[in-house]
Amino acid sequence: MMHRNNVRFALLAATLWAAAIAPGLFAVEASAQPSLDLMPLPANVVLGTGKLALKPEFSFAFIGYKEPRLERAVRRAADRIAARTGIPLAIAEAADPSQAFLQIDCGAASLPVQTFEEDESYVLTIDASRAVLRAPNPLGILRGLETFQQLLALDVQGFNFPAVEIKDAPRFKWRGLLIDVCRHWIPAEVIKRNLDAMAAVKLNVLHWHLSEDQGFRVESKKYPRLHGMGSDGLYYTQEEIRAIIDYARDRGIRVIPEFDMPGHSTAWFVGYPELASAPGPYEIERHYGVFKPTMDPTREGTYKFLDGFIGEMARLFPDPLFHIGGDEVEGHQWEESPSIKAFKTARGMKTNEDLQAYFNKRIQAILKKHGKRMVGWDEILREDLPRDIVVQSWRGQESLARAAKQGFAGILSNGYYIDLMYGAAAHYAVDPLEKEAAALSEAEKTLILGGEACMWAELISPETVDSRIWPRMAAIAERFWSPQETKDVADMYRRLEILSSRLDWTGTTHNASYPKMLERLAGMEGSFEAVKLLADYVEPIRGYGRHDSREYSQTTPLNRMADAARPESFAARAFTGMVDGMLSDAPAYAKNRREIRHRLMAWKANHETIKALAANSALLAEVLPLSERLAGLADAGLVALQSLESGQPLPQGWIEDRAALFQAPEKPPYELELMVVEPIRKIAEAAAKIPAGD
Ligand code: ACM
Repeated sequence: MMHRNNVRFALLAATLWAAAIAPGLFAVEASAQPSLDLMPLPANVVLGTGKLALKPEFSFAFIGYKEPRLERAVRRAADRIAARTGIPLAIAEAADPSQAFLQIDCGAASLPVQTFEEDESYVLTIDASRAVLRAPNPLGILRGLETFQQLLALDVQGFNFPAVEIKDAPRFKWRGLLIDVCRHWIPAEVIKRNLDAMAAVKLNVLHWHLSEDQGFRVESKKYPRLHGMGSDGLYYTQEEIRAIIDYARDRGIRVIPEFDMPGHSTAWFVGYPELASAPGPYEIERHYGVFKPTMDPTREGTYKFLDGFIGEMARLFPDPLFHIGGDEVEGHQWEESPSIKAFKTARGMKTNEDLQAYFNKRIQAILKKHGKRMVGWDEILREDLPRDIVVQSWRGQESLARAAKQGFAGILSNGYYIDLMYGAAAHYAVDPLEKEAAALSEAEKTLILGGEACMWAELISPETVDSRIWPRMAAIAERFWSPQETKDVADMYRRLEILSSRLDWTGTTHNASYPKMLERLAGMEGSFEAVKLLADYVEPIRGYGRHDSREYSQTTPLNRMADAARPESFAARAFTGMVDGMLSDAPAYAKNRREIRHRLMAWKANHETIKALAANSALLAEVLPLSERLAGLADAGLVALQSLESGQPLPQGWIEDRAALFQAPEKPPYELELMVVEPIRKIAEAAAKIPAGD
């Protein structure tokens, strides 16, 4: 059952994903580029000969424009290289710039507040004696330093960088990640480590979703009951906000705040019920969905309050863009209020959309007065709004094209909802300039500024958020940065796995939190290895399926296997590849077959260990049916493998007799999917097809 009122859930679950997961989109194309392990792939790479050895003296020099931010960036890059290599590098400015190991040649200063008009291109040239990084703007230097770090490799001679010339520039100006810090609180240090990872893949916008039904997360000195009563004490002080903005700027990332209005706004009303369209009192919403509390757009007091609030936030957040949300206005409070109905009638407004459009125009004028440009979800799109607003398309790619046709700038988020737990390939297949946008004129296409992935926070915590963003986000970052033709899915996955390990050095916990969460499942005395052997081959169910299994709220524990399991199982991908290789009869056949048998035997035996552990772990007890099914499938796989080896086909109906194993249960209460069913089915199908007497 869908949640009542759950418009976002219903819309996306029903319509958006069919195209992205169609099998044809996973086709592998040959790569046109020399395949360095870079992500996102640069626009242009020319491999040279030889390499630059990493030296214990890491000397750098600025031969052009210099600023403290750039020196911090160079030192940060060198520190990370020292950490990755275990070499205590002596990092220092070169006495003779011409002899520096890393020369930085920056053209000029960037603007005090980052804009999309600044040039992020760079040229990185590495030969046997040094690396030279050139860029017209510090932003390009920041991007190039990340590429430089990704080029570091180990070979038999030690750590070094390949000789190369990279000329690189982004395809899209706006390459963003939304983090919802409201449904679950995400502390400042978690935001910071994710900013480091964003910088590593050349993202340039943090869209900070700061107010919701479930929490108001910013200190307001003018209206202290906003955070005081709307956040359970879990909010960022203004000092913390400024520190995060500085931290992001150091990494070439803009911070765009979102304060969602007039819907998704219950938390505002706990302290200021007079803003709402129905009398209070209000409490912080603990559940998820789309709720009734909505701002009253007919009272002048609402605009006076918002003028004061936006004025305060406009000073706190330097970015010229200001996101007002505008999504999913629920409508009941407006329809049930006699005074609001009278207001609509008096002004000839027929629908709630008309009333919201009136609200948006008032807010847009307030934003303009405070020097800001309005950004909103695609619900705000109306012909009569000024053309300096930006539309964020979440309900379908169509609205992005429609906005561009009407002269509005826009970004795409439809297809990039990473809370839905789709694999990287599904997101990678979505392109802001394809589908409806492909038919736009060149001038209209320039209005499509890029895209943003959305990390909605119904089912994340500070412990799990990194693993829900990374590494999949990097595939989306590549879609936003790299040339449109970059579409080789197999090569993307190859590089994504490498990048995932590299990101550990930026401080993200997407890998580090996994063993800890599995240890918790196993219990203190339990075998973590046994739990891992199961967890490695499952994924949380996709879409909004988890919400079908139970009523989640802010206080629901997020400590189960469905929270620990990775959104995309690389181990299952590898197993599938191994089976495909074996069944292709390629020379690797014998080796693969041995590996596959070992794996199947391990899964079969593992269930006994899991059963024993589950006797002492409530967290593990719920996945017993899953473990049992894996053991059953493994057993079936071993029989099928034996049949392949002996040349004796499986009896007629053998697979059908095991339908319960091969068919995923509907709405499993443990909220996980087993990712090795299909490869085992393939082995069985091959074994069933052996010609009799062969
Ligand atoms: C949204 O997902 N309601 C923007």
